[in-house]
Amino acid sequence: MDTATAAEAELQRRFAELRREIEQHNYRYYILDEPQVPDAEYDRLMQQLRELEAAHPEWVTVDSPTQRVGTAPADEFAEVRHRVPMLSLDNAFTADDVLNFDRRVRERLGREGAVRYSAEPKLDGLAISVIFEHGVFVRAATRGDGATGEDVTSNVRTIRSMPLRLRGAVPALVEARGEVFMPVAGFERLNAEAAARGEKTFVNPRNAAAGSLRQLDPQVTATRPLEIFFYGLGAQEGLDLPVRHSEILALLAEWGLRVCAETRVVEGAEGCLDYYRQIGARRASLAYQIDGVVYKVDELAAQATLGFVARAPRWAVAHKFPAEEALTRLRDVEFQVGRTGALTPVARLEPVFVGGVTVSNATLHNMDEVLRKDVRIGDTVVVRRAGDVIPEVARVMLERRPADARPIVMPAACPVCASPVQREGDEAVARCTGGYRCSAQRKERLRHFASRRALDIEGLGEKLVEQLVDAGLAQSPADIFVLSQQSLAELDRMGEKSADNLLRAIERAKHTTFARFLFALGIRDVGEATAANLAAHFGSLEALMQADLHRVQQAPDVGPVIAARVVEFFADPANREVLERLQAAGVNWPAPRVIAADGAPLAGLTFVLTGTLESMAREAAEDALRALGAKASGSVSAKTSYLIAGRDAGSKLRKASDLGVPILDEAALQRVLETKRPPT
Ligand code: IVH
Repeated sequence: MDTATAAEAELQRRFAELRREIEQHNYRYYILDEPQVPDAEYDRLMQQLRELEAAHPEWVTVDSPTQRVGTAPADEFAEVRHRVPMLSLDNAFTADDVLNFDRRVRERLGREGAVRYSAEPKLDGLAISVIFEHGVFVRAATRGDGATGEDVTSNVRTIRSMPLRLRGAVPALVEARGEVFMPVAGFERLNAEAAARGEKTFVNPRNAAAGSLRQLDPQVTATRPLEIFFYGLGAQEGLDLPVRHSEILALLAEWGLRVCAETRVVEGAEGCLDYYRQIGARRASLAYQIDGVVYKVDELAAQATLGFVARAPRWAVAHKFPAEEALTRLRDVEFQVGRTGALTPVARLEPVFVGGVTVSNATLHNMDEVLRKDVRIGDTVVVRRAGDVIPEVARVMLERRPADARPIVMPAACPVCASPVQREGDEAVARCTGGYRCSAQRKERLRHFASRRALDIEGLGEKLVEQLVDAGLAQSPADIFVLSQQSLAELDRMGEKSADNLLRAIERAKHTTFARFLFALGIRDVGEATAANLAAHFGSLEALMQADLHRVQQAPDVGPVIAARVVEFFADPANREVLERLQAAGVNWPAPRVIAADGAPLAGLTFVLTGTLESMAREAAEDALRALGAKASGSVSAKTSYLIAGRDAGSKLRKASDLGVPILDEAALQRVLETKRPPT
């Protein structure tokens, strides 16, 4: 065989293998509702197949996965031929794709001005066709291959949000098209229940929805939290068609069919992209999963002019969000030491693009999770990054485990300071016992101390903390307050100006509140809410430090575990020394006890703070005002009692002066805080 033929044979072998692989995935996805690989991986394989077929059209056969939309219906359900084919949508991934889509639409329509679109969430469930005859629900079918679907009438009947009879005057025949999905909360509950019974869980809400809808026993479906949204019309008889798609949606809603409340009519590509950004920002807080948005030309006559290509309309496009899951290889696992010594296994990955960024590290949470997911070094894993949440290893592709995969072992000694690692009782986390002796714990404590919700020292972030600790300039929070121009000059890349800014931020942070200070100390299990409760209950650091277990527990929402941590913290001589030094450095806060005795002296007054304050952080000033009984609000209105204007105050200052709200400077604010009296 010459080399050309050998290469050709190899390519053909690869082609056959790819087809087999995709067919297997189709089966797992459509028939078993148990996909093996993330969608993005499947798309990548399909793309490869399309490319090979484009280069070798003679290899394409009618049964190639590229030649059909889905998979034929499973045997068990009756087949339903769709009166109007159920199409799919072309995808757009970038803003450019959307601009191009809009340009093509305008060119074909010969439009100069902006086209109106119906912008809708792309619900991540499964497409459904529901037929009503004279207003009565008679049949529901899945999309199947687009021409023929499965009859799932009995199952759809069990969905509570599915009306069995339409309301009002309805035409002789209506085929409504929509999406069956499972809300996230329902999905989580279902999985938790399945896990408690020791049964298999679903990978994601869409598969849970598909699995539930394709149950042969409708009684099982009835127990599943399925919902349905409608987004269009298929066949109809006797309907006076409106002019716009948005009017069809309004009609569906009038008939009692659920339409997604997030749907909007927008103007042009800009309107589409705005909508995409807005929904994208709220994506994680929606009750259901969406994998993108759909833009549809709103005017029905324009839709008719545009028509279809192959299996997708020219008048609509799906603008997808970046995939949230991807496959990659787990190279290694390292253990990161946190503020309280907790060791977190962190996956070092072969870099992979997921959720819109390249990810090379992901959390494995703790050893219980590692065991539950059976993760090993060398495994191919599914990495998940949803929104701004820290990327995690979601699951393992057991089928792809190499023979030399290595188990992950919790080290017996801290990887940073070599102190023993301990696991307390049945806690999921193991901890380094080094405390302040461990530089990793020191760094994390400093970072926490300076963080926005604690002492809020602007500019003192992760990198700088790392440098300060490594250079031996700061070991405990108290050291921060003795930093100077000279000592900071030792650090790499620290110019005079940034050193100056940092020192000023540190100076400002000295004025804080008792609650923030307590939270900043980083006592284990004392979060913001507990810190606020302790501060309000004890009023002063001295009182809290003197309290025994029993008295600490009397603070609201403080149980024996937290109380023990608090007492333990203040009993530790090293901690007491840090506290003394912090107070000696001038860290202070308004004393709430005195205020309580006065009754809240600023009660009934509303302050708005704007611009930069020189002497303290704005949030600390707001907290201090609140401690005196005032309200601190973010926006100016006629109800605002005083506006405090710092440096570079802008629109709020203008608005306050327009409304005649009294405006005070920072010195006046200081007087209020010192005298604990309203401004004079
Ligand atoms: S319109 C011809 N609107 O996305 C128009 N589809 O790839 C066809 N989907 O199978 C569909 N939300 O399952 C449309 N608001 C929405 C949608 C939506 C989700 C799904 C649907 C369809 C697939 C298209």
